[in-house]
Amino acid sequence: MRKPRRLPLEQLAEYEWRMPWRVPRGCRLDERGLALVAGERTPKQGESGRAASGIERPAPIDWTALFGNDHPVEIEVGMGKGQFLVMAALQRPEVNFFGIEVVRKYQLYAATRCAIRQLRNVRTACADARWVLHFFVPGASVQAVHVYFPDPWWKARHQKRRLFTAEFVQDVARVLRPGGELRIATDVEEYFALMCETVQAGGAFETVQCGQDVTTPPEWQTNFEKKARARGSPIWRAVFRRRGADAESGVKSISESPPAP
Ligand SMILES: C[S@@+](CC[C@H](N)C(=O)[O-])C[C@H]1O[C@@H](n2cnc3c(N)ncnc32)[C@H](O)[C@@H]1O
Repeated sequence: MRKPRRLPLEQLAEYEWRMPWRVPRGCRLDERGLALVAGERTPKQGESGRAASGIERPAPIDWTALFGNDHPVEIEVGMGKGQFLVMAALQRPEVNFFGIEVVRKYQLYAATRCAIRQLRNVRTACADARWVLHFFVPGASVQAVHVYFPDPWWKARHQKRRLFTAEFVQDVARVLRPGGELRIATDVEEYFALMCETVQAGGAFETVQCGQDVTTPPEWQTNFEKKARARGSPIWRAVFRRRGADAESGVKSISESPPAP
């Protein structure tokens, strides 16, 4: 008998975080997905949206309440089917993992994998990660943000959909504790260069590692990484550390932890 594609929703409830807030009726997100503007239609070129005022802001996530402990939190953005999330959560039960995936069927697939293994240190969210980081994640509350194989959006007209923008990096810098790490990987060299440039331009991070990666063991490879390696594509990987007053001393670097991509 085939394994179920996903468990029933009620069995996944404890592995899910649901956004306790919706875009209010009569409003929409701006093009970057980071601000509310009045009006449901997208403004035509040259026309700007009116900023929506008087809208109640959502309450930030309380990590201790969500996980039932105060262990450090790491976020994976765009976890797909959850290969990294499951592996990391199994290997490091003393860390809480929060996976954000915009496609519902993948989020439920990842949640199912966690539920089958009873991984109590994982929660998953179906949402736009830019929105979650910007509005819901408290500042300086996260130990690491992982972004593996983000969609490159090749076509020029689609490039505005790319996740990795200066605004995204600003939000990552805001949510990371001093000494916390942003970890990225991709098989798209051009996008890798752009991501590194964007992170380095912001000034909030020091570069710990940056370049072609030949060392990640198969068990730590994500689905996209496995496919890319099978095609013979080189993999590019970088680790950036959040600068801050106590960056040198206070926070244990995940680079000292067991192997993680
Ligand atoms: C190319 S796949 C990589 C999946 C996985 N990280 C891996 O390496 O196998 C990119 C994933 O990011 C998700 N994604 C794209 N934009 C996103 C966003 N703004 N917020 C959350 N997830 C997003 C996509 O739905 C997709 O599952």
